[in-house]
Parts: sequence; C-alpha cells; structure tokens
Amino acid sequence: MRKQIVAGNWKMNLNQVESLQLIEALKSTKNTSRAEVLVAPNFTALAASVEALKGTNIGVAAQNMHQAECGAFTGEISAQMLLGVGVNSVILGHSERREYFSEYGELLSAKVDAALNHNMQVIFCFGELLDDRESDQHFDVVTEQLTESLFHLPAAAWKNIVLAYEPVWAIGTGMTASPEQAQDMHAFVRKTVADHYDNAVANNCPILYGGSVKPANASLIFSKPDVDGGLIGGAALSADDFTAIINAI
Ligand code: 13P
Repeated sequence: MRKQIVAGNWKMNLNQVESLQLIEALKSTKNTSRAEVLVAPNFTALAASVEALKGTNIGVAAQNMHQAECGAFTGEISAQMLLGVGVNSVILGHSERREYFSEYGELLSAKVDAALNHNMQVIFCFGELLDDRESDQHFDVVTEQLTESLFHLPAAAWKNIVLAYEPVWAIGTGMTASPEQAQDMHAFVRKTVADHYDNAVANNCPILYGGSVKPANASLIFSKPDVDGGLIGGAALSADDFTAIINAI
C-alpha cells in the first residue's frame, strides 16, 4: 500500500522560539493517524525542530535547497547542510518559489537530482494558475511541469518522490479545489506517470493535495482514492487544526 503523508509547510512564519512552541503543542495533541507526518519550518529552526521531535512520529522537511554541493552561492543551503542537521526531506517547486524566485523546470530538475543523489525524499509541488484552469489548460500545464523536472529520472529514483498537486488559485485563498477536482487531477497525474514509466511506479507514488485544506474539508478530500494526503499551509500553524487534518486521513 502506498504511503500517506500529511506535511505542514510553515513558509516564512514562526521564528525558532515560536517553531518550538508549535512543536510542543503538536506533541501534546493526539495524532492517531497511520500517515507519515512532516513539518517544514524555516531554515533557522530546522536543527532545533529535529532535536525537539526526536522520539516522536513527526519528521522535519526543508522548504527548499540549492542544487550545488557547496561553493560561492551566498545565502543558499545545500543538501549536505540539511542532512547535517538531520533533515532528509525537502519541498521543491512550490508555487511561491516558482512565482517569486523564478524557480522553474530545468532549475527544479537540477534541485531534484541533487536531493535524490543524497537519498533525500523530495516533495515536488506543481499546479496550474486560475487562468490555466479557466482556459482548460490545467492538464497540459501540469504535464509540462512534471515532464520538465521529473521525467528524466530513472524509474528507481521514484521511490523517493512524493508529488504535491497545489493549484495556485487554491493556495491561501480559502478557495479549495473540490474533492472531485482534486481526484480528477490526481488520477490524471497517476496515469501520466504510468504512461511514462509503468503502473508500479505510478501506484507507489504518493500524491498529496495542497491548497486551503482545513479541518472542515480534509476528510472529504482525503477520501478520494488518488489523494494520499495533504500539504498544508495556513492550517498547519495551529496545532489543533493540523492534528485534526492529520486525523482526517
Ligand atoms: P494553504 O493551506 O495556506 O492554502 O497553503 C497551501 C500550501 O501552499 C502548502 O504548501
């Protein structure tokens, strides 16, 4: 059976002290799910978060990384640096990285390669803009995003890939995709992966949904057969809401 995952992307919120407070609150709420749970604090809080979550069933992911091993890239963080503080999962291709930092296809493909070379788990985000959906281009846009950054990988590399469909129009807007819209896209993505590789690769790959997931809509979205969990933004900043979403799986 494929993995189910609920990951909280804290984005540029919470300093180290606040991150540790949220972690303590998460540790004291009851998460009864079989799903893998991850939180993604900002870089400065990663090491302390790993330490604080030792012995729990909550893991830590980074929100981005650079593709080079090391060198003159002022302000950047490498895979080795993440591994050095005990972080072996990384979110890549988030729409905010695409939109505000011009991280697209080829660059993302290099980042994916770097993370996989270090045996890290990659949570690869993709999704269409509202215009794309309204002009019925959403399946084409998503196919292109996957093709540009992931379809050069050998089949074996997919054991460390988690996909996260995040329609840009649903992120932080309160306008979540309907469970049917999510299911349609996830089924399409799974078929696209199967066509490029095979059914085994496609059926083993978790596909998360992200975009205004809240306690009130999580269980309906997660009930869809091709939705294997969620990537949660705003609601992950509340221990009660995040735990309710985890327990909705
Ligand atoms: P929201 O849950 O705040 O819409 O954010 C989703 C997201 O971008 C997770 O990566």
